[in-house]
Amino acid sequence: MVEQNLWLQKVADNPGHSSWYVERFRSMARAGDDLAGEARLVDAMVPRRARILDAGCGPGRVGGALAEAGHEVVGVDVDPVLIEAAEQDHPGPRWLVGDLAELDLPASGVTEPFDALVCAGNVMTFLAPGTRREVLTRFRTHLADDGRAVIGFGAGRGYPFDEFLADAKASGLVPGLLLSTWDLQPYAEDADFLVAILRPAS
Ligand SMILES: C[S@@+](CC[C@H](N)C(=O)[O-])C[C@H]1O[C@@H](n2cnc3c(N)ncnc32)[C@H](O)[C@@H]1O
Repeated sequence: MVEQNLWLQKVADNPGHSSWYVERFRSMARAGDDLAGEARLVDAMVPRRARILDAGCGPGRVGGALAEAGHEVVGVDVDPVLIEAAEQDHPGPRWLVGDLAELDLPASGVTEPFDALVCAGNVMTFLAPGTRREVLTRFRTHLADDGRAVIGFGAGRGYPFDEFLADAKASGLVPGLLLSTWDLQPYAEDADFLVAILRPAS
């Protein structure tokens, strides 16, 4: 049994949380808000028809946009309500319920490694802290040797950036490029957000 992550703890405290989250993004989509910034960054990094893993995909905002851009997307999230919404709102990708701490896509018949992995929307800060390295190690094993992981989350959410980068290194992922926004602002020591583009250590 894997340690319970902070998202499911939130859902246990407030059973309406998942539906609220789904509706929040649906209403932003209806309002015409730009919900594809993270997807545009990843799209610029990969060849056409790339294989992309959306880790902690939620209701499919990022993976859905990447699939629309022609990529082959698999999305994994621990919350079945969000995966159901992803299936409804973004048909096409393979959306799977699963805990990233137990990620084993070959066991679900997804055997080819990924060109890119995207982990957006503070997913890293919702992991059970004791599982962070395990999750990062599984990210590495699902990536091709020349693949890259793009992981973004905010400061002040209980996972200091230097600790994250040390965990990533211990898991076989090293920085290729560090940014402070999804629109390519460079990283600085006092940044309140990190977008880390990591590659497998050679
Ligand atoms: C704020 S949402 C972001 C969703 C999506 N990435 C986005 O940007 O729209 C955080 C997500 O992390 C997922 N999550 C947290 N811990 C997880 C875990 N251990 N395994 C899989 N998903 C997890 C939650 O279920 C939730 O969908």
